[in-house]
Amino acid sequence: MAMQQAPIGIFDSGYGGLTILGEIRELMPEYDYLYLGDNARAPYGSRSFEVVYEFTLQAVRYLFNEGCRLVILACNTASAKALRSIQQRDLPLLNPANRVLGVIRPTVESISGLTGTNHVGVLGTPGTIASESYPIEIHKLLPEAVVNSEACPMWVPLVENGEHDQPGADYFVKKHLDNILGRDPEIDTLILGCTHYPLLENKIRSYLPDSVNIVSQGKYVAAGLKDYLYRHPEMEERCSRNDSCRFLTTESPEKFSEMASLFLNTPVEAERIILG
Ligand code: DGL
Repeated sequence: MAMQQAPIGIFDSGYGGLTILGEIRELMPEYDYLYLGDNARAPYGSRSFEVVYEFTLQAVRYLFNEGCRLVILACNTASAKALRSIQQRDLPLLNPANRVLGVIRPTVESISGLTGTNHVGVLGTPGTIASESYPIEIHKLLPEAVVNSEACPMWVPLVENGEHDQPGADYFVKKHLDNILGRDPEIDTLILGCTHYPLLENKIRSYLPDSVNIVSQGKYVAAGLKDYLYRHPEMEERCSRNDSCRFLTTESPEKFSEMASLFLNTPVEAERIILG
């Protein structure tokens, strides 16, 4: 019997994961992708551990039921709060041959080549910052690193509401950069630890000294996925290759299609699904 091949699943609470999808497709356009945005319940950033875990598990189950063998949590909040439990507790029961990967590890692996001062800043949602996932992962690789973190609760809503390039966004961007650099002026590498934040990157850059590196995680996650597929041929051969992408959302497909077309700079037609 021919082996069943399927798209790679990409999950985010909303639009942010599109920044990861865009980089993955640029690096590996030949594969098929199934993107799922839980826009009806976004943002996840200020939700409890239990709720983020429950919503993320529902999304992973949905993507597995659609045939995906490999799912990327293109969301730091879900990676921080749900990935480990899903990998350890749920995957063995759902389908031990399937895999779920997150975005924090590949992002952290990028910084050792970037920081000269060993002072690193992390920007993220309240959930990601409270989980301490970034400092824990960074210290595994760079035990001496000084890590400062800043939760930016308004940044995701600015992006989800299409306000990220408007003048109102400047206040919230400047405020959090001032906070973190005020606490540690030696930071030379700043991780955008939320997949929505690349949409704010121009504004972030304008409030930072040129000496500070901004780590926008999409290209590191894409490179990490390519490496993963190379190292796991048994998974790679289960990924279908027709250069396609389908988009699913739990909110209005019209609104998703409009926003996603802007994010990806190409027409998108989304379908509505119900999670639960
Ligand atoms: N894009 C997400 C992240 O990377 C989600 C944020 C949210 O839903 O609050 O954390």
